[in-house]
Amino acid sequence: MRTTTAVDLGNPDLYTSLDRHARWRELAAQDAMVWSEPGTSPSGFWSVFSHRACAAVLAPSAPFTSEYGMMIGFDRDHPDQSGGQMMVVSEQEQHRKLRRLVGPLLSRAAARKLSERVRTEVNGVLDQVLDGAVLDAATAIGPRIPAAVVCEILGVPAQDEDMLIELTNHAFGGEDELFDGMTPRQAHTEILVYFDELITARRERPADDLVSALVTDDALSIDDVLLNCDNVLIGGNETTRHAITGAVHVLATVPGLLTGLQDGSADVDAVVEELLRWTSPAMHVLRVSTEDVTINGQDLPAGTPVVAWLPAANRDPAEFDDPDTFLPGRKPNRHITFGHGMHHCLGSALARIELSVLVQVLAERVSRVEVLSEPEWLRAIVVQGYRALPVRFTGR
Ligand code: HEM
Repeated sequence: MRTTTAVDLGNPDLYTSLDRHARWRELAAQDAMVWSEPGTSPSGFWSVFSHRACAAVLAPSAPFTSEYGMMIGFDRDHPDQSGGQMMVVSEQEQHRKLRRLVGPLLSRAAARKLSERVRTEVNGVLDQVLDGAVLDAATAIGPRIPAAVVCEILGVPAQDEDMLIELTNHAFGGEDELFDGMTPRQAHTEILVYFDELITARRERPADDLVSALVTDDALSIDDVLLNCDNVLIGGNETTRHAITGAVHVLATVPGLLTGLQDGSADVDAVVEELLRWTSPAMHVLRVSTEDVTINGQDLPAGTPVVAWLPAANRDPAEFDDPDTFLPGRKPNRHITFGHGMHHCLGSALARIELSVLVQVLAERVSRVEVLSEPEWLRAIVVQGYRALPVRFTGR
């Protein structure tokens, strides 16, 4: 274990190239514990990187909470305003209640039902580009599938879907470009205004969707309902798009993967798990200690923010052999891409189905995927992922 003070690890410029993996691998291998001085986070924060230490901070019994916020920038002195209301930043009874209400809509059975929708979306994109156009997988495929699925879960009426999908793509694209005169933040606000209207409609006439499930609970305020629709919207869109784009990337670059899926020698479920480990889109989660605690030999007083870097844990050489290599049949594969403990991703079954259907449809219809230039990476700290990935598909 090594304890150091580092540059501000919340600086997004550190993550725009693949150097990030070399840095994380070294820190994970050393089981490092790093302090970042106040900067992007007003009070500074500690970081852990190894699989063991990240799992320890997130373990159900660990004395840590996400109620002050779960991202760099929040801590006990600067709490997230949604704390105690939105699922991912609530604990105890409120958290349990929200998981009970939302869980059935994101369950494995619900995810299986949504697989037809995913198939339609992937086929729709392929119909337009097979044997022809170059397309940017990061903007034309990655965001399209999760946005469509989340609209379906939330109960967005068909006539509003295209508008909502466009707004979602823009809001969670991770770049500050304008769309329809809006910044990403304004696009996100626009979506919330739309949800506000949808909530009013579902209160009058409930349907079989997430908004209706939330409004049936009288103890939840309109604000609570809105925040938790937003939780599913963000959770479902921001990360999954990069795993999907990553799937296209590995099908183009991992020798024998596409043919292995076609002749059955590559197991789809194992490929999906390796995709999740290798892309690891959620970059960090933050917790604040609720009592004095010792992590990696470092004594931390109650109220200390600690960040677990999930992609670092997912390439920790102590847990994964040859961690930078995409191994389609990797077993065991105990990645923590979906986090760990009480807040383990509630949409994990859905994300797995989206990836599984995607790789199966591509294997059915495509003989070759070409990447036409090196990927460009997002400048962000909440997610790591693709800004651009130009590709071409050749049909079978
Ligand atoms: C929570 C990652 C897909 C909804 C989380 C957490 C992570 C994560 C790391 C834990 C956050 C924490 O501990 O503070 C991912 C990744 C995905 C993905 C990498 C795709 C590859 C989805 C999808 C949905 C979703 C498709 C829903 C449509 C949620 C929700 C939570 C959550 C509601 C909060 C759970 C709780 O607090 O109990 N996700 N997620 N996620 N995710 Fe996902």
